[in-house]
Amino acid sequence: MPDLPESPPTGDLESEEFRRAGHAVIDWIADYIAHPERLRVQPDAEPGALLDKLPGEAPVHPSPYGEILADFERTIVPHVMHWNHPGFMGYFSAGGSSPGVLAETLIAALNNIGLMWSSSPALTELEERTLQWLGKLLGLPLSWFGMIHGTASTASLHAMIAAREFAASAARKAGSALDLNRLVIYTSEHAHSSVEKTTAALGLGWEACRKIEVDERYAMKPDALREAIASDLRNGFAPIAIVATVGTTGCTAVDPVPAIADIAAEHALWLHIDAAYAGASAMLPEMRHHFEGCERADSFVVNPHKWMFVPMDLTAFYTARPEYLRDALSLVPEYLRSREYSRTVNYMEYAIPLGRRFRALKLWYVLRSLGAERIADTLREHIRLARLLAGWVDASPGFERMAPTDFSLVCLRFRPAGASEEETDAANERLLHAINETGEFFLSHTKLRGRYTIRVAIGNLRTTEEHVRRLWELLQGLAADAESAGRR
Ligand SMILES: Cc1ncc(COP(=O)(O)O)c(C=O)c1O
Repeated sequence: MPDLPESPPTGDLESEEFRRAGHAVIDWIADYIAHPERLRVQPDAEPGALLDKLPGEAPVHPSPYGEILADFERTIVPHVMHWNHPGFMGYFSAGGSSPGVLAETLIAALNNIGLMWSSSPALTELEERTLQWLGKLLGLPLSWFGMIHGTASTASLHAMIAAREFAASAARKAGSALDLNRLVIYTSEHAHSSVEKTTAALGLGWEACRKIEVDERYAMKPDALREAIASDLRNGFAPIAIVATVGTTGCTAVDPVPAIADIAAEHALWLHIDAAYAGASAMLPEMRHHFEGCERADSFVVNPHKWMFVPMDLTAFYTARPEYLRDALSLVPEYLRSREYSRTVNYMEYAIPLGRRFRALKLWYVLRSLGAERIADTLREHIRLARLLAGWVDASPGFERMAPTDFSLVCLRFRPAGASEEETDAANERLLHAINETGEFFLSHTKLRGRYTIRVAIGNLRTTEEHVRRLWELLQGLAADAESAGRR
């Protein structure tokens, strides 16, 4: 044994200081989580205001933890949007949870980098097991291969990489080759922008993403899809994939997956399902009908960081045909080979990034701590609250609902008496900003049928009926102000 000092002084000091600083951070987080309403949801901040407060040069000398935390609270927090606030109802509400915070802390402490299995066996095997749990909870086929990505956008890009490989393999078997300039994919005009980005990222060009018309419920029209494929085939294009959405970003529309799956099967196209937000609700038996046909897909994406209380970032990606991803992306350099290699899952072979975070730990922690039953009950409550608000909107002559409320999103529009469509758009924009300026709530908007639409996305663990009642009161009150401001 080498001679070691009896007690390494710096190590001890460091660990004592860390312990004190760690307790202070946890105390700060506990207060923050217990009383999110003490803060405005949306910061009252002008662009560049924080930049102006931060020094232009990196710190040269160390600062004590206490000083850093005080600066965090004084300088940074006033510029933060509080996604954990129960009044955060913008975009898709993506609040985390306290078990998620603890898990993120442990993830940082372990600081594992998953390459192949042996770089951290726990990282790989916990990912395998938690994704099996999640897949079962959502009713997905048990045989599907699951892996974690940071975002749904990245997962959908991987789905399209697999789709291209699938088509290339079919072409090879037929003795031909793919012409990359002729490849096209199909999705609805309401699909998330990440779908469109996949063709740009793959070098197929933006126009290779064909946007199919939607019906009055904003769902993809299968006949229009069929026609688009036929027209492309006539013109020498090579269709490779269809991306259907269950729960579109704008208004949570559900594409008719069974009919789309038939078309995909007819043309041997890869079918990818984007259920980034709504996928979590497949946990509820009463919501399963929205996912009919998804079991026929080649790949499926859902974001537990959207509506399952797992902190950003955790996307669950499933595929029935992992071999195509592996064929497209596997490259195992000598320095990453290990004795057990052939007996284990090595996620690096199925994705562009080599190193992976230990994200599965937060899925495990949240599922262990909340339990599937509490998660399901909370989703059910969010759906109930959305329907409650939808009912009030429908009963109010001054407002209209712009889309079906199938999940926990309500799309609404204020209708000032006698106003033109353009004046109504402007009044709704003023109303949205007035709500956000109160600091009590944060809402966002979209355009449906070309008209400005306010979106109320309910999805935070702490949002209650009281919050939704208060929001409705504010919407009605501030709508009158927005109307009179328009007349001035
Ligand atoms: C339907 C849908 N797909 C994909 C995404 C993109 O998610 P991410 O930010 O994880 O890439 C979103 C984001 O809201 C979404 O609503």
